[in-house]
Amino acid sequence: MAAGAGDAGLATALIVAAGSGERLRAGGPKALVELAGRPMYEYSLEACRQASKVGQIVIAVPPGKAAAFGTATGAGSGVRIVEGGATRSHSVAAGLALIDSATVVVHDAARPLVTPGLIDEAVTALEAATGLDGVIAAAPVTDTIKRVGKDSRVSETLDRSTLRAVQTPQVFRRAALSAAIAAGDLDNATDDASLVEAAGGAIAIMDSPSFNIKVTVPEDIASAEAILADRDRKDDPESC
Ligand code: C5P
Repeated sequence: MAAGAGDAGLATALIVAAGSGERLRAGGPKALVELAGRPMYEYSLEACRQASKVGQIVIAVPPGKAAAFGTATGAGSGVRIVEGGATRSHSVAAGLALIDSATVVVHDAARPLVTPGLIDEAVTALEAATGLDGVIAAAPVTDTIKRVGKDSRVSETLDRSTLRAVQTPQVFRRAALSAAIAAGDLDNATDDASLVEAAGGAIAIMDSPSFNIKVTVPEDIASAEAILADRDRKDDPESC
């Protein structure tokens, strides 16, 4: 939905795109790395624009790099830009300072394959819930996970059926996320829900499809492009 006068009651999407992308070895911010000919962040932006439950969009970009985020976020786009911080949570805090809607969708620009449907599903799940502060996308774990101590010694094998690999979108009641960010360990948190949990908030997971991968290392680019190509082929009425 386009941002503007009809936004009352809609969630605000906060896309965090301020990471350095060191593990991608791209020599610049990960969000600007091209995926099938477009900068990675544009895919998440497009999904948020198309989500019917999202009104405003804020994007946290690397300090000093706002201009590189181009026309997709320029004047008249309805997208507000903020400079991110030294860690992901500091970037969330910077974006959250601009947001006053009751519901916030936090999404990593590094997950470009998110769909409008997945975003809407998460917002709807939180809206329908009572006693929850957040709903987060998560996928079952397919590997067996072990706790490892010193000297590579295995100390425990965890029960895989109780484990989930957490992704974004993560949707929160803004008041709960703001309080958690104000009180939380922003230097070490690896997701937003953990901050809300640490502050005593209640979080539920929503099953997420396997396509919602995070682009972290160079090999992930080829995987993401293959998923995009498959999507295009299925959308093409000429294909069989
Ligand atoms: O590094 P990682 O892949 O876990 O980052 C997840 C998301 O957080 C990415 O979209 C990245 O751009 C964002 N991020 C950020 N500010 C930072 C670090 C990461 O917005 N300082």
